[in-house]
Amino acid sequence: MKILENISLKPFNSFGIDAVAAYFASFNSDDELEALLRSETAINNHCLVLGGGSNILLTKDFPGLVMKNEIKGIEVVNETEDQFIIKAGAGENWHQLVLHCVEQGYAGLENLSLIPGNVGASPMQNIGAYGVEIKDVFEALEAFHIKDKSIEKFDREACSFGYRESVFKNKYKGQFIITSVSFRLNKQPLFNTTYGAIQQELERMNVQELSIRAVSQAVINIRSSKLPDPKLIGNAGSFFKNPFVSMEQFELLKDKFPSIVAFPLEGGNFKLAAGWLIEQCGWKGFRQGDAGCYPKQALVLVNYGSAKGAEILDLSEKIIRSVEAKFGVVLEREVNII
Ligand code: FAD
Ligand code: EPU
Repeated sequence: MKILENISLKPFNSFGIDAVAAYFASFNSDDELEALLRSETAINNHCLVLGGGSNILLTKDFPGLVMKNEIKGIEVVNETEDQFIIKAGAGENWHQLVLHCVEQGYAGLENLSLIPGNVGASPMQNIGAYGVEIKDVFEALEAFHIKDKSIEKFDREACSFGYRESVFKNKYKGQFIITSVSFRLNKQPLFNTTYGAIQQELERMNVQELSIRAVSQAVINIRSSKLPDPKLIGNAGSFFKNPFVSMEQFELLKDKFPSIVAFPLEGGNFKLAAGWLIEQCGWKGFRQGDAGCYPKQALVLVNYGSAKGAEILDLSEKIIRSVEAKFGVVLEREVNII
């Protein structure tokens, strides 16, 4: 384990922001992590744990220690008549884990294909797509308590998962480093193909017999058609969360804006499509310098080349203000601002 100095973080964040970390080190085991946390550099500086860097916006140089999680390994740790418990190291690439499970016939992760980033960050915001969130397949995780230098185990309840939320983003923010995550996956798939355009895509693909492989491919195809590939255009996926409003607020909005896009939630609230709100404010396709709002998906802010994190943040602030002025709805950022 070597601590490097003055390292550009450009290759380590999907926005492609060129910010510099004063110190940078990677770790590939719990022991290496503990040794790193006991180092003078970690004790005397702010620390930032990094996975794939696909949900952060670096707004300035990072004056502390960036710790890149490289803990690997995927194993079946338990098997029942109808399920497998799969444990994956936090440093495993998420999509590679999904493909591995699809290959092996472990069902449950296929709708979450092609989400960038690593396993360790997946519980942070309870990643979700196409009708599935990781809370639906989550078994447990292990996390290193930074202060106590001990490993703690969290079951689903202890993680307090919500829409793009968990205890690690709130109550325990900055206190734990997730080292492994376990998932409860089915031998017999329970297909979830009702969300968005999955069914349509399966038909277009001419799929005769439904399989987790086909669902995974359909999700890959849909995502590739609308979301920018970070290798080509810097981005961190949806920059904002889809906001929730009460039924009364929704009805008032619907009277004023009859084509508003919303989804009813259990309990009577509505989830508004933030992409629609942003598009209605005229931001879709907007570009100033290298900071922009993606022309195919207004919820995604992009870096066309050499935008600074502060420029993207500034654009996001303008979008929040204009959506609030037009609809009275305050958008919340999904991306972690560093
Ligand atoms: P990072 O960006 O490295 O880290 C994110 C946050 O978690 C940071 O605050 C970091 O400090 C913290 N963190 C990272 N690892 C750990 C750890 N081991 N322990 C504790 N804290 C940690 N998200 C969705 O939910 N659904 C989608 O459909 C989706 N689509 C996307 C599409 C694109 C093109 C892109 C670029 C992003 C998309 N995202 C989506 C967002 C992103 O992929 C997820 O949030 C992903 O889980 C981030 O993983 P990461 O390893 O890159 O996290
Ligand atoms: N829409 C517009 N204009 C746009 C974009 C969207 O009008 O520019 C409307 C359309 O009516 C569309 C609807 O919004 O049908 C929903 O759009 P989409 O299906 O693309 O999904 P989303 O709500 O924008 C969410 C997640 C994505 C996830 C997809 C698929 C959030 C914040 N985002 O996007 O997650 O992949 O659903 O499940 O919940 C991420 O978190 O980074 C992410 C990409």
